[in-house]
Amino acid sequence: MATEITAQELNTELFTNEKVGEIRETVGDGMAINALSGGVDSSVVTMLGHKALGERLRTVFVENGLMRAGEAEQVVDFFQKLGITVEVVDARKEFFAALAGITDPEEKREAITQSFYRNVFGRIVRESGAKYLLQGTILTDIDETVAGIKRQHNVFEQLGIDPQEAFGYRILEPLIQLRKDGVRKIGEALGLPAELFKRIPFPGPALAARVIGAVTPERIETVRKANSVVERLLKDTGAFQYMAILHEDRVTGMRDGKRDFGQQIEVRCWDSIDARIATPTRLSFEILEKLAGEIIREVPSVVSVTYNIASKPPSTIEAI
Ligand code: XMP
Repeated sequence: MATEITAQELNTELFTNEKVGEIRETVGDGMAINALSGGVDSSVVTMLGHKALGERLRTVFVENGLMRAGEAEQVVDFFQKLGITVEVVDARKEFFAALAGITDPEEKREAITQSFYRNVFGRIVRESGAKYLLQGTILTDIDETVAGIKRQHNVFEQLGIDPQEAFGYRILEPLIQLRKDGVRKIGEALGLPAELFKRIPFPGPALAARVIGAVTPERIETVRKANSVVERLLKDTGAFQYMAILHEDRVTGMRDGKRDFGQQIEVRCWDSIDARIATPTRLSFEILEKLAGEIIREVPSVVSVTYNIASKPPSTIEAI
């Protein structure tokens, strides 16, 4: 298991030089593929990888249909400004087909893992002749997976899965000794703009982690709209992470004087340093009321909005 480097003891220059050297040495004169989701971890890995390999790194954003509103355009734009070209691969049909009929949280995660690594990246790596996939796994992803709490979509070797055997390529994970606070320090040192290295965390399974029950394009669109409201209204809170979750149960409400058996959105907003423990942010009632008002106005069929007040543990940050 990787030894932890805490944010306090992290020397960003030493770390960067070491990882750039390791990536160069491993990849040799071949090329590598880099999975970029636009989150903090994969953005930092993209910067490290380009420092190490330059044009020999192909950066790919998988449009899986589960991302936040405008995410693909934003990511392409951000990295264009940094001189890095991002290829967008449309895999929406593949992901929704893989998720069809699944409601169990761990089965959903597994379907997403297989779609990403076996199907989409398997194909891209095979066609490109690359032998390596560079990705932003961090220590917290591994801890929770190994402890059996959640099967993070990007953890393999610690579970005894050899990516070479399972998918046909090796996976390079230069951030595996860090937690989110350390990753942010490296991002800042590598010249990522604050709007990227300070972004709130977003999980690999994306909005599928925020839908309880069936993942369909319609249900994803519902949670996407609610999530946009939550991100817009809570962006100045300084909280670690905030999100909307779509529940499976419906509740009776009324709209235009008629009964409406509608949907429920749960809002979560967390204070945390590194995601290992977290407490709900003490939002003012005024903000809570604004959240409820805007979600109900902007998201069709929602008649109930709740705020989570349980801490992690026993809660977890995401709902599935
Ligand atoms: P939980 O929900 O386990 O989340 O308390 C801890 C942190 O990790 C993020 N998260 C994930 N990130 N793949 C990821 O890359 C995943 O499968 C995953 N699940 C949770 C979550 O958003 C939080 O910041």
